[in-house]
Amino acid sequence: MLGCLIGTPFIFSLFQVIYKYMENKDNLMEKIVALCKRRGFVFPSSEIYGGFGAIYDFGPYGVELENAIKREWWKTMVQIREDIVGLDSAIFMHPKIWEASGHVSGFSDPLVECKSCHVRIRADHLLEEMDVKADEKMGLEEINKIFEKHRDQAKCPNCGKKDFTEVRNFNLLVKSNLGNFTGDEDSNHVYLRGETCQGIYVNYKNVLDSTRVKIPFGIAQIGKAFRNEITARQFIFRTREFEQMEMQYFTNPEEEMKEYEKLREYRWKFYLDLGIKEKNLKWHKHDNLVFYAKEAYDIEYDYPFGFSEIEGVHARGDYDLTQHSKYSGKDLSYADPVSGEKYMPHIIESSVGVARIFLAVLCDAYTEEKIEGDEIRVVLKMNKKLAPVKVAVFPLLKNKPELVKKAKEIYGGLNSHFMCEFDDNGNIGKRYRRQDEIGTPYCVTVDFETLNDEAVTVRDRDTMKQERIKISELKEYFEKNLDN
Ligand code: GAP
Repeated sequence: MLGCLIGTPFIFSLFQVIYKYMENKDNLMEKIVALCKRRGFVFPSSEIYGGFGAIYDFGPYGVELENAIKREWWKTMVQIREDIVGLDSAIFMHPKIWEASGHVSGFSDPLVECKSCHVRIRADHLLEEMDVKADEKMGLEEINKIFEKHRDQAKCPNCGKKDFTEVRNFNLLVKSNLGNFTGDEDSNHVYLRGETCQGIYVNYKNVLDSTRVKIPFGIAQIGKAFRNEITARQFIFRTREFEQMEMQYFTNPEEEMKEYEKLREYRWKFYLDLGIKEKNLKWHKHDNLVFYAKEAYDIEYDYPFGFSEIEGVHARGDYDLTQHSKYSGKDLSYADPVSGEKYMPHIIESSVGVARIFLAVLCDAYTEEKIEGDEIRVVLKMNKKLAPVKVAVFPLLKNKPELVKKAKEIYGGLNSHFMCEFDDNGNIGKRYRRQDEIGTPYCVTVDFETLNDEAVTVRDRDTMKQERIKISELKEYFEKNLDN
């Protein structure tokens, strides 16, 4: 596996791939990738060792943005919902779970290999780039037929040759030898979870028996998932280690589709409340439904590489609990406490990757504005709730101890309430630009007047307007304006 991840013949270099997709939209993707690295949002994993395919690390501002996204999701999906509870299940689970779920036999991507340079590429992606419709949910036979029809056009993006193998399925589950002390690496392997929801299904009975929930109710969790994605594409959009936020809602079969419509509406509103522009969102209905699904829609965001899935909202029927009942031998059906009716609950799910929202937020917020002559200001106009730093505090001059002392006092008074940053480096204009670039909604400047009037200048990120606010009123001012 290590060879597959880091061996150059097997994967595109990250930057080759990024450059391929960033030609659109004024190089927005290129600008965002560069800003993420320059300003400590996202770093390529293990960079000093040459990187590690399709894995990223989130830097100081990145982790703040991630946490803010997760906080908003948790608030919407658990905190304000009487009918939904949280869970944190383990990454490692009994391997039979992945047999029951169908992942061992069916969780795969269609893959072709260039016979010349041995690069492996997803066949559906290669076809897509040739404007031929294909998707990962198609059966192997179907996608092979399409690929054979267009084989003479399919060109290797690495070496340019047109000589591919036929399409094969490649299983995405990541194996581990956790708990295997036999020395035989090929037996008794367990998996790193490929999705977080399986931990929800296998705890459904525990939650039911230990809390006051009754159907309809949901279980939500945020956690890491792992997939052996073949190609690293589009920066943090598709990675091999990622964080999912999933909510599984257990319903009476009769109510499934009614609840599904409510969930679709609820999830759409989540993105609008995050401040994502509605024109950049759309619904995509699945044509190729897996056999058990009643209906499946994705919410798509208009990323720089085009509309792509940000979240799946799917009606899964009774497949999951039926499978786990069968494989575990435990009855997971539900007995209605009032009517006594017994049935296998049907599940509707909302499933989204944190990094897909992260990337959408950055794409939506990234703004270049001409100010004063030809100067361009880069500003992330994101929802203030999501901003990594809420308030930056500056002394007007670094070499005036009385200003620095006052600014430090203000910083110390605010930072237990808001994420704050102290900055005394360079001129004020440069400090504003630095904060604009990471989306800080407010900058506070302590000047000589402050020493007399106990007031500071507060500058707004979006309007660049400045107003004078009493130090004693700052906390209240920010509480009101940041909607914390
Ligand atoms: N439980 C259903 C499930 O996992 P999925 O369509 O495979 O369905 C759901 O994934 C969501 O997880 C996607 O909409 C996407 O936001 C995120 N996701 C999936 N694979 C990902 C990857 N390799 N990198 C980042 N996010 C991913």
